[in-house]
Amino acid sequence: MFTWLVSLTCSTIWLQVMPVLLNIMNSTDEALSVQLLCEMENLVKYVRQHMRRFLPDLLALVHSHWSTATAPCLNLLRELSISLRDDFKAYVPELLPKFVALITEAERTQNYSNLGRALGALEALGTAVTEHVHLVLHALTRLINPAQSATPVETRRLAIRSMRKLLPRMELGGYASAVLHPLMKVLDGPHDELRREALDTICVCAVLMGTDFALFVPIIRKAVQRHHMKHEWFERLAQASYGVKPPCMSDAEDWESTSAWASEVDNLMAEQTTAPVPAADPGERGHGKCVHVSLRSQ
Ligand SMILES: *[C@@H]1O[C@H](CO)[C@@H](O)[C@H](O)[C@H]1NC(C)=O
Ligand SMILES: *[C@@H]1O[C@H](CO)[C@@H](O)[C@H](O)[C@H]1NC(C)=O
Repeated sequence: MFTWLVSLTCSTIWLQVMPVLLNIMNSTDEALSVQLLCEMENLVKYVRQHMRRFLPDLLALVHSHWSTATAPCLNLLRELSISLRDDFKAYVPELLPKFVALITEAERTQNYSNLGRALGALEALGTAVTEHVHLVLHALTRLINPAQSATPVETRRLAIRSMRKLLPRMELGGYASAVLHPLMKVLDGPHDELRREALDTICVCAVLMGTDFALFVPIIRKAVQRHHMKHEWFERLAQASYGVKPPCMSDAEDWESTSAWASEVDNLMAEQTTAPVPAADPGERGHGKCVHVSLRSQ
């Protein structure tokens, strides 16, 4: 096994080494290249946003190794998107179809080993996915849907959680019922352990939908009662969606700013921004500060 233990000092030195590494990765044999790809994940964690100038090269490597070394590619993508959020935006449309293909392939081969990692990388994309979430929506809802009985429960749970994290970043609009239906099936499905997860995610939908949610309340409430669930958030949102006379278009804004929905939306957004905070950038803690780095293959 190739082990690489380096103690170089400042990140600026790393930046000088990067072109050499990229060249090696371009020309070397597959095994060594994949090994270096794994090391890149640690390097990105360390160098953070200074990696910006190498982003196109790194993504080219991700594209060329995607099918042979999916796991290291997903790990690297995750780190890159945490470190370089805004720069990453432009590449999201070409990356998301790869995630869809990965999900489809997992379903076809019944091998879900990379799926948790893929969902993690997807969530790490953060606000960069906003305009493009719909590209992965269908694949995600398929993972959630109990009609696809082969999907392992654990995978389904991860997908429901990913959905919960991705929803606030998208324009739900016309997708509301496409998202709600599989969740409602889970709520009333065979797995007790997924009901609460599903209802939590349904509540996120509800917050985004406002009074439009009222339409779905009766059927959801029936399922909640059937399974003897107590869910304070759902009850609060259900009442809010009924309690107020639906606004006509012209006073919708007034209604929103004065109603209970405003605070629900605030809570949800606060939860989003306090969620996973990426590690502080070492460059900001002290620019020339020298640190010993040890990059070691697992
Ligand atoms: C690696 O090769 C690709 C094409 O095969 C090229 O576009 C890219 O610039 C190369 N990167 C480096 C760092 O040599
Ligand atoms: C599932 O896929 C992973 C990664 O591609 C692979 O390492 C593993 O051997 C596969 N498992 C089975 C049972 O085929």
